[in-house]
Amino acid sequence: MSRTRVGVMISGRGSNLQALLDAAARPDYPAEIALVLSNVAGVQGLARAKAAGVPTAVVPHRDFADRESFEREVTARLEAAGCTLVAQAGFMRVVTPWFVAHWRDRLINIHPSLLPAFPGLHTHERALQAGVRLHGCTVHFVRDEVDQGPIIGQAAVPVLPGDHPDDLSARVLTAEHLLYPRCLTLVAAGRTRIEAERVIHDAGAAPDARLIVPGESA
Ligand code: GRF
Repeated sequence: MSRTRVGVMISGRGSNLQALLDAAARPDYPAEIALVLSNVAGVQGLARAKAAGVPTAVVPHRDFADRESFEREVTARLEAAGCTLVAQAGFMRVVTPWFVAHWRDRLINIHPSLLPAFPGLHTHERALQAGVRLHGCTVHFVRDEVDQGPIIGQAAVPVLPGDHPDDLSARVLTAEHLLYPRCLTLVAAGRTRIEAERVIHDAGAAPDARLIVPGESA
């Protein structure tokens, strides 16, 4: 089986990266993590990649005059590693239309809300303030507008009485770690296509939405 070579872009902790590394360690997983690239040196995600024996690169955005020259270097590194698909996992830089166009339909991201609700930062605080009863996470193809783009999969978790943002964040993160490897499977295996900016899954592809209830097995 030839596996799709995936580059993972991170900026920090890398717990979603870990979920992808763990999934890709299975011989039947359709993607291979070929490079982990961080814009920040010394972050935990880089150590996770090294522990998994995956090549790493650090491209500090501050070394570049503008976003696009940074992204051209990032792209050169990803392509030198043979990556044909890119997964952003806690990558905390907004990307330019140049980058989106270059990687069009080959660039995915995970966001900690049920998009299109709560794009941007501080999603868990905002969900609590809004009083929503369900919250969650979304894996989507990246488009020019931040946290928008065709939705590959979502996972929902309940908001419980007395929740603090940290409680909600932890509950959503558990769902992220289940959702992201499932979505990457579908994209890497070519089991999705985009029609009219909506993702169509092949017949028989794994269900792409679920409710994660604390205490129940996923
Ligand atoms: C996750 O909540 C992800 O959805 C968001 O940033 C966080 C990254 O966490 N984009 P980690 O680095 O994967 O642990």
